Amino acid sequence: MDMFHIEGPVRLSGAVRINGSKNASLPIMAATILAAGKSTLKAVPNLSDIFVCGRLLGRLGCKVTRSRNGDLSIDSTVIDNPVGEYEIVRMMRAGICILGPLLARCGRAEVSMPGGCAIGDRPVDIHLRGLRELGAQIHLKNGYIVAQTPHGLKGKDVFMGGPFGSTVLGTANVLMAATLAKGKTIIESAACEPEIVDLANCLNKMGAKITGIGSPRLIVEGVKQLQPAEFEVIPDRIEAGTFMVAAAITEGELRLTNCRLDDMMAVVDKLRNIGVTVDAANNGCVVARSGPIKPSDITTQPYPGFPTDLQAQFMALFSLAEGNSVIIEKIFPDRFMHVAELNRMAANLRKEGSTVIVAGVKKLIAAPVMASDLRASAALVLAGLAADGTTVVNRVYHIDRGYEKIEERLNPVGAKIRRESA
Ligand code: EPZ
Repeated sequence: MDMFHIEGPVRLSGAVRINGSKNASLPIMAATILAAGKSTLKAVPNLSDIFVCGRLLGRLGCKVTRSRNGDLSIDSTVIDNPVGEYEIVRMMRAGICILGPLLARCGRAEVSMPGGCAIGDRPVDIHLRGLRELGAQIHLKNGYIVAQTPHGLKGKDVFMGGPFGSTVLGTANVLMAATLAKGKTIIESAACEPEIVDLANCLNKMGAKITGIGSPRLIVEGVKQLQPAEFEVIPDRIEAGTFMVAAAITEGELRLTNCRLDDMMAVVDKLRNIGVTVDAANNGCVVARSGPIKPSDITTQPYPGFPTDLQAQFMALFSLAEGNSVIIEKIFPDRFMHVAELNRMAANLRKEGSTVIVAGVKKLIAAPVMASDLRASAALVLAGLAADGTTVVNRVYHIDRGYEKIEERLNPVGAKIRRESA
């Protein structure tokens, strides 16, 4: 129940190195189940979600260790308990993506259905639909997905589109299962996120045969066996986007290293349109603002559209724009827990359905606020950097799920954040 005390306003200036991607690491950790033996993953960040995923794999029979140089080693020689327990999956929904690999490796699996989520309704019906297409028999029992493949998995054409477009972890689950299925699988309306590209590249390094990577049509030739591999995960584009907004909201200048602008075109385009400069630099970029923030509109979409995981952070930024902005959330229509909290900081936000009208104000004013989910809490920290006075953000465990020691990364570049442990 730690909390942050954030002094504002500040002006950030200096360099920050971007960590490895949480959302690439989680499915790639699950992918190690597919190959008996020791895999070594590099650049996996030290986050509570990663720790929880390690525990989940440990319960299956894997040995998960972190070496001094930060490498994560996962030995999946033995998988003797293909069960994803409620106690763990309820803490981290991404736990669902062990289902496909367990089915492919063990022919059976029991994985707790992920429960409710602060960002809205998050069913897994498309995951199950895709795995059934590959021949899995699936039923629900006591809150668990019980799955088996008495005749093994068979390659097939699978359509993975849903009411909000593609599904990221759904694509991951079916893609991983298809690597060991008999014959060819075509995944249509697959997610194209950089994290899925990274997963597919890792699987190919383990011996899979995947083509069409990065496109909405993935083609997988099933193979008999995969081998453990050594793989380095991509930098975290959502963390990078969050730090870009930190530079912009404080009228500062940050040099971000280990950051891939290619994965963030929609975000960079939006920043440039509202008066923020983003200049490519060696292995990263320099982000700066020296004039007013222009208002603008955002509609969140699957990649390569504007990411929903940066919606809250940009809402905090737009709350200081010179004029009205409109934000439409098309992926998680209820993802607005941060709205009331930002209004407590004197922002002027009006929510109507899955749209928020952001009327820009001259300044934000510090207040005690409550974090509710990972990205909403990031937005509150960013608002606190720009607000007059001391903002107290409660329940920062939400932010520790996706940002490694954020105060130790921001304080050296001019922030004044103090963590208070309850
Ligand atoms: C991934 O979640 C990310 N999580 C989320 O990031 C991210 O917000 C989301 O993709 C969208 O980009 C990880 O990678 C661990 P989806 P995922 O399935 O895969 C609906 C963060 O902040 N849907 O792509 O669970 C669903 O309800 C997290 O780091 C179905 O209807 O998201 C949503 O409206 C939060 N049926 C839409 O599709 C399904 O079976 C997209 O969800 C699956 C999804």
